[in-house]
Parts: sequence; structure tokens; C-alpha cells
Amino acid sequence: MNKKILVAVAWPYANGPRHVGHVAGFGVPSDIFARYHRLAGNDVLMVSGTDDHGTPSMVQADKEGVTPKQLVDRYNAIIGEDLQKLGLSYDLFTRTLTQNHYRVTQDLFTQMLKTGAIYKDTMTGTFSSATGKALPDRYVEGTCPICSYGEARGDQCDNCGNQLDPADLINPRSKIDGSPPVFKPTEHFFLDLPRFKEQLEGWITAQTHWRPNVRAFSLNLLKEVPPRAITRDLDWGVPIPLPGFDDKRIYVWFDAVIGYLSASIEWAHNRGTPDAWQEWWLDPEARGYYFMGKDNIVFHSEIWPAMLMGYGEGPLTGGQRPLNLPYDVVSSEFLTMEGKKFSSSRGVVIYVRDVLSRYDADALRYYLTIGGPETQDTDFTWAEFVRRNNDELVATWGNLVNRVLKNAYNNFDVVPQPGELTEADRQILQAVEAGFAKVGQLLETARFRAALQEAMGLAAMANGYISEQEPWKVIKLDRQRAGTILYVGLRVVDNLKILLCPFLPFSSQRLHEMLGYEGTIAGPITLKQVAEAEWTHQILTCEPETWSGRWESSRLPVGQELKEPVALFRKLDPKVVDEELARLTQD
Ligand code: MF3
Ligand code: ZN
Repeated sequence: MNKKILVAVAWPYANGPRHVGHVAGFGVPSDIFARYHRLAGNDVLMVSGTDDHGTPSMVQADKEGVTPKQLVDRYNAIIGEDLQKLGLSYDLFTRTLTQNHYRVTQDLFTQMLKTGAIYKDTMTGTFSSATGKALPDRYVEGTCPICSYGEARGDQCDNCGNQLDPADLINPRSKIDGSPPVFKPTEHFFLDLPRFKEQLEGWITAQTHWRPNVRAFSLNLLKEVPPRAITRDLDWGVPIPLPGFDDKRIYVWFDAVIGYLSASIEWAHNRGTPDAWQEWWLDPEARGYYFMGKDNIVFHSEIWPAMLMGYGEGPLTGGQRPLNLPYDVVSSEFLTMEGKKFSSSRGVVIYVRDVLSRYDADALRYYLTIGGPETQDTDFTWAEFVRRNNDELVATWGNLVNRVLKNAYNNFDVVPQPGELTEADRQILQAVEAGFAKVGQLLETARFRAALQEAMGLAAMANGYISEQEPWKVIKLDRQRAGTILYVGLRVVDNLKILLCPFLPFSSQRLHEMLGYEGTIAGPITLKQVAEAEWTHQILTCEPETWSGRWESSRLPVGQELKEPVALFRKLDPKVVDEELARLTQD
């Protein structure tokens, strides 16, 4: 039976173009995972979109002198394009600024109010003493009451990871002008987290398949579980579905996590199968894998699960059973840039679009997987990018493909008929075919780096085989034997094409065509416009049901016509390192 796999990918803020740190955390890993499961024949639903609300976009809109709506429209389009070029194969990449998302968010809010998971209370609001306007949480700074870190933000302490309210801070000050904020009573809605503490504890404790650091971090968060305000004194966000709250909005994180569900519903609707989303949300066998950077863990292992528990058997479920909790929270660590923290304001940044304007998507995907922050903080350096590209991607995999295809094409034109296989022939074929189980196993447990190393190890082994067999020499003496070697080589390359396809989809597709196949093992991702009653929005989508790739051994037909081979990857001139470093300090 096909497994149902929900790939829920963190929603990037639509407040600027995304940099490589972002896509290293949520983007590339989730796409590798989704592509693998599709090849393995499972039913994947991969959803995300831009996170359009909240103070991040309001603050940036202020800076750029545009309205928040203008800002998020612009960056939604840019981010969509960038993710498309990087080959992220969302079934749906939408945005939170859709009527569908507003409706689903308000439905959840209303139901949770009914179950008591949300309640109304008066809290202390933070207002600027200079302008009298509400001061966004993250624009208040002060000392953390829990760990005494001096630069905690009003929403969260980056040192101990605890969530905070601005009023908790010791010596609070406005980040904008340094003035002490004024605190005034204001009515808001709260998520009653304490009510779910025990249930969350029991649930997380049982998740022994999570990465150990994610599980430990999440359990630790539960030591302190105060209720959380989920509305704000703002005019940018999803409206509160109750009279008398026109000047307030639902908090951006509350609506953003609901995006996973609303996007699944939108996907089903767009396809004309409005109930299809339920297969990933109501079937207890379905598994939801959530991908993000580590600063997002709390929202996925604590807040969103509590919301799902609080929603219970609400209207969307048809009263059947609660919506599925996450199966795994796959969080990566941080990526730094040439030894420094990414910072768009300080110019320590490299945007996805800039990398992709100069280098191939597969080269970036390769580096971010083999040298990325999967289990520990890592540093992006241009020197490593070039070295990995030239010494590994080009020298191992590219070279193998090149040697095998050139020799086969020049001497045979077609996949040659093999004679009897030798021990060496059988060994290399078997080793590579055993890769389907090994690499697959690693991918299923979200060990992407190890999976890629395993596949690249097989490519290196195959290179050794070709070097030993020297088909370019054998062809002069024994055409039949050379044909056998090249047949084995082509089969090996055909297998590796699939093993590497989750990581390197563009080059695998090109190779597929050079091997003389038609159709797509991994098809295109397209940008489209979707019309709702009053709004229109852009989406990214792909049609995996048309993809022909399968996670199984090659059945390359003898006699299949080969296409003239071209290099799979580009070797980079080492001088690009200096060029890139110069760009970095210039901006
Ligand atoms: N926009 C948030 C960020 O960039 C991530 C939101 S993820 C979701 O940090 F859970 F809210 F979807
Ligand atoms: Zn702290």
C-alpha cells in the first residue's frame, strides 16, 4: 500500500528575497524527502507558501515606503520564482493572503474558542511612548527573566529559546528609538497552553524517532508553559471573526502554522477533488513531516500540536477523529556565511536568486546537502562551494557519466548488447543496485547528507570500475567485451541517475534524456494564477503523477538509441571565490 506522506515546509516570510541560509534549512531537505517518497511510489503532499502577515512584513514595508500588501505581493512573486528555479517541487506553494486561508484560520479560531482552547482576557499591551502606537513584540528588547540574557526580544529569547511577552522583560526598551515602552491594558485572545502541557509531554516523550536534539529541546520548552496571546494590536493580519475587534488581528504565527492545513485544502480544491486533503490529515496511518530551521521548533512541536489538540474533532474533521499531529519535526541547525551570521542589513548575505543567476541549481543543492547544517551549525564558504563542485560533483559523478556516455555513444550509438558478465561486472552492478535499499533507508530517516555520501560513494566505485576496465583500450582489441563493459557502465549510470535524482533533479533529467529515454523522471514546476471569489494569487505546483521515475533498478533496454552526450556539470574557475568574496563586502 502507498504511504501517505505530508511534507509540510516552513513558510518563508514575504518580507524580502530568501537567502541560502533559508533554503538550506527548510527548502532543499524537504524537497529531497518529497522527491524520494514520490519515486518510491508513495503519495506525497508537499505544501507551503509565503508567510505574508505580521510585523516582519510591516516593518519592511515601512522601510521601503510601501503598504504591507504591496510589499508581500512583490516578495511573494520573487520568492515563488526563486524556489521554482531551485527545483523545490511543491504540490502547492501558496500564500497566507488568500480567502481560503482566512476562512480556515477563522474556522480554527472559532472552534478553539468553543472548546475553550482559546479564551479572552485582558492583558498588558506594549505601546510606544513616542508614537502611542502598538509596539511589535520583536521591537522590544530587554533582559530575559529566565536566563538573564541582556538582548532578549519581546517575543522570544534567542539565548534560552523561551517564548516571552514584552512585559516579562527586565528593563524593556524600544528597538526603534530606545525609549521605554508604555504598558496599557488591552483585550486579547489566548491559547490555553497549560491545558495541553501533560498531553504534549506524553506525546513528545513517545516521539523517539525525532532527532534527539529536537526532542530534548521540545521537552525542555515544556518546563515553562504560560498561556500565549494569539491576537495583536495591529491592522495587518487575519481579522478576528468576532464583533468589536476590528482594530486587532490574529497573531502571525497562529495563522502561519494553520497554513499547512489550509494549503492542503486549497490544493485539493484546485485539483477539483475537494476532500482529497483528508487522506493526509485524517488517516491515522498518514505521516506529516515538518521541515524548518531550529528557531521554528517551538511552533511545530508545541504550539501547532496544542492547536490541533484544541481543535479536536471540529467541523473540518466531520467529527470523525482529530487532525493528525506531526509525525516528525525535522529541524536543521544554523548556516553561517563565511564565518558570520547572515544579515541582509549588514550585507552578509547571498540570495538564492543571485547564486542561481551564476551557478546551476544542482550545484547549490549538492553543496547545501553535503556540507549543510543538517545536524550542526555549519559555515557556507565559496571556497568549499567551488571545491565540492569541482572535486566531487564534476570529478566523480560528472566524470563517470561523461566517460561512459562518450565511449558508448562514439562506438555504438545505442545501448550495446552485453556478452557474458565477469565477476567484476556483476559486483559493480550489485553494489549499485544495493544502493536503493541503503540510500532509501537513510532518506526515510531524514539523513540526507549520509544518503548523498552513500550514493556518491557508489559513483566513485563505478569510476574505479571504468578506470580498471579501460573500455577505450579494449574497444581496439575486443569490440564485444568493450560493449559489455559499456553496457554495465550505462546500467550503473542509469541506476545512479535515480539514486541521485532527489538531490540533483535537473542533471538527472538531462542524463535521462541522454540515455535515450523520453518523458520526465521528475517534471517541471510551474507558476500559475489562481482566482478566488475576490482575489487572485500566484501558486507554484507540479504534477508528480506524470513523473515516470521509479526507485528501482535500471531496466535500460539494449538497443536504445543514445543522444550525443554533453557535460552534466560545469567546472568552476577558482577565481570565482575571490569574485564572490568581493561582492560580499561590497554590498
Ligand atoms: N515565517 C516563519 C519564518 O520565516 C516561518 C513560519 S513556518 C510556519 O521564520 F509554521 F508558520 F508555517
Ligand atoms: Zn533567556
